[in-house]
Amino acid sequence: MIEIKGAAKTFRTGARVTAALEPIDLAIADGEFVSFIGPSGCGKSTLLNMIAGIIAPSSGAIVHDGRTVAGANTATGYMTQQDSLLPWRTAAANIALPLALRRTPPAAIDARVAQMLALVGLANFGGHFPAELSGGMKKRVALAQILAYDPPTLLMDEPFGALDAQLKLIMQGELMRIWENAGKTIVFVTHDLAEAITLSDRVAVFSSRPGRIKAVETIDLPRPRDPLRIQFEPAYRAVHQRLWDLLAPEIEASRAEAFA
Ligand SMILES: Nc1ncnc2c1ncn2[C@@H]1O[C@H](COP(=O)(O)OP(=O)(O)OP(=O)(O)O)[C@@H](O)[C@H]1O
Ligand SMILES: [Mg+2]
Repeated sequence: MIEIKGAAKTFRTGARVTAALEPIDLAIADGEFVSFIGPSGCGKSTLLNMIAGIIAPSSGAIVHDGRTVAGANTATGYMTQQDSLLPWRTAAANIALPLALRRTPPAAIDARVAQMLALVGLANFGGHFPAELSGGMKKRVALAQILAYDPPTLLMDEPFGALDAQLKLIMQGELMRIWENAGKTIVFVTHDLAEAITLSDRVAVFSSRPGRIKAVETIDLPRPRDPLRIQFEPAYRAVHQRLWDLLAPEIEASRAEAFA
């Protein structure tokens, strides 16, 4: 279980001070799928970075399975917002890297890499370098990479943002299937409210910067959910309306500040 206990972040770079996140309190249960949604710059990636142990909170703490996160949190697989593939390694070699670092036997690595490439629909692209892949393909390789070494918790920062609308729905379905079968905990950042509702057990709506959690809504739509059809269900529309009413004023506030 992940406990975010009053974790706040203020960045100080020389004389420049940016209050990114106000103290955040949230507990995420084992096996839960939780999404963060909120305006650009409200601190969503900052919070994932703190859970991953890449940056330390200015105050408060992140506790994962009873231990305070200090330094890299190896229980998490992190699919960052930026491209993280090594350009000089093929797709297959990128997926293999975390497995090799964990001293997986070479034959097992090859089998696992092939399985993961097939899972993300790239069975014929293992030999391609990142520069030879589309934006969406690179995202799928990054997904295959974190799934390959099977961490109990996945942190995913807009993983499907670069995919076309149809492929995005297909990948959402795949991710839910993997999550339901493997019992993983997933913390997911998205700008797409429909995506957050489709996937999540709970959605945390962030305020404009400095970010705080404005509301946490439970999505009680039945599972399994079909990303291609869920938006036509009456119950979905009610959830969407409720969340949109929470989110819209924050987007408006963020826009007013940015373009004042
Ligand atoms: N390493 C850093 N040094 C200084 N400021 C930072 C750093 N990382 C983030 N910030 C600032 O913290 C704030 C929150 O950034 P963050 O990346 O967490 O936002 P976000 O919610 O993920 O936005 P987006 O939806 O656009 O990805 C921003 O004002 C950003 O400029
Ligand atoms: Mg971000």
